[in-house]
Amino acid sequence: MSTITASAPAKLILCGEHAVVYGRPAIALPLVGIRARAEIAPGQPGSGISILARDLRRRWRVADDPGHPLSELITSTLAHYGAPGSTPDLRITIKSTIPIASGMGSGAAVATALVRALAVYLDRDLPPEAISALVYASEQRFHGTPSGIDNTVIAYEQPIWFIRQSSLPAVSSQLQEASNNEQRTIEPITIAAPFTLLIGDTGVRSATREPVGHVRQRWQADPARYEALFDQIGRLVTKARSLLAQGDLASLGPLLSQNHILLQQAGVSAPELDALVAAAQQAGVLGAKLSGAGWGGVILALVAPEHQNAVAHALRQAGAKRVIATTVREHFV
Ligand code: PMV
Repeated sequence: MSTITASAPAKLILCGEHAVVYGRPAIALPLVGIRARAEIAPGQPGSGISILARDLRRRWRVADDPGHPLSELITSTLAHYGAPGSTPDLRITIKSTIPIASGMGSGAAVATALVRALAVYLDRDLPPEAISALVYASEQRFHGTPSGIDNTVIAYEQPIWFIRQSSLPAVSSQLQEASNNEQRTIEPITIAAPFTLLIGDTGVRSATREPVGHVRQRWQADPARYEALFDQIGRLVTKARSLLAQGDLASLGPLLSQNHILLQQAGVSAPELDALVAAAQQAGVLGAKLSGAGWGGVILALVAPEHQNAVAHALRQAGAKRVIATTVREHFV
């Protein structure tokens, strides 16, 4: 066996986070240039499977820590698609340049890279929905109630429109899947004009499940208020999809800024996120918002190319630990 490598991209939620957990649509984008990688090499005979997670500075044997999320993912992937009974001897190395716990899908990207590498090892040509389902099951075990948007956009590696809903009318879609008794609508979106996003990282790490759990508590305490907020977000996301299809970026920007205000009202922003959004707006963006679960992590800013440098500078001045520029297109080649 020669060494196998596979990778998976980071992701960004353009609009609709949190409301997507409650059945409203969201739009997510892969960041194809920022990736997690998994490498599988043969291990010593009888050694079983060992994992070296470079960025976590951790090495362990699956047999010694079977409950670790990556150990469980390996075990379940081999149980689904491998030869029954035998444990192979493998050395698995994980590397990633995606900031951890920052709204960029680092966990789902690592898991997807790992499943892709295992699929090559097992000589299985797994379609994106099969990879996505394994990663989703893993996220469910460790993160509570994920909507499934992260694993989906990362497995498909294209901009998507995503709705999680238990009883959906049939929609014509190239990419509709049903898994774990939940039905989702997954559709490719039309992007008439490529656009540039700047991502500003607050450097504040926040585990997704905490703001997600907070929203759930507040929704339970005041369902009418939260349902109304989610409806507003859902309408905005629907509008954003048609603006992307028309290439109307000037109208898309204010919608993104409006989405940030609704996320503030939902209680998931943070002073560091608000500071970056405000700095971006003062420096002349089309629109800006937090992206992902919130309480930390990143903001995104939609910028005209001529303002990119000034906005990047303003973000750094306002405390961004890292600024990443990305151009979003309908298809990545
Ligand atoms: O993993 P994050 O931080 O990008 O957040 C995921 C987006 C949420 O809508 C907040 C949660 C979910 O499962 O969709």
